[in-house]
Amino acid sequence: MLTLTSRKGTFQIEAVRDTTIVTLAKTHNIPWGYACERGICAQCRTRVVEGAECLNEVTEAEKLRLRKAERAEGYRLGCQIQVTAPGNITLVHSPY
Ligand code: FES
Repeated sequence: MLTLTSRKGTFQIEAVRDTTIVTLAKTHNIPWGYACERGICAQCRTRVVEGAECLNEVTEAEKLRLRKAERAEGYRLGCQIQVTAPGNITLVHSPY
C-alpha cells in the first residue's frame, strides 16, 4: 500500500512498480508539485516516512539536487522515486 500525503490530504493507492511517484500522483489526481520531472526543480520534494526499502536507490539527479543532510533525513524527489518491492510506503510531499 502506498500512502501519499499532500496539501489536499492523505490518499492510499496501489503501488505500481517502476513508475514514479509524480506519475502515480498524476494518475490519481493527487496534487504533487512538479515541473521538470528530471530532478532539477525540486517542486516534487518528498519525505519518505516509511518503506524506503521498497523504493529504488537514490538517483544521481537527487544527489545533485538535494543536500546530503536532506537525504539523510529521508528527503527525495517524487519524480525520481520508484516503487521496486511490495510493502507499506508512506510519503509526504514536502516542497521548500
Ligand atoms: S519534478 Fe522537477 S525535480 Fe521532480
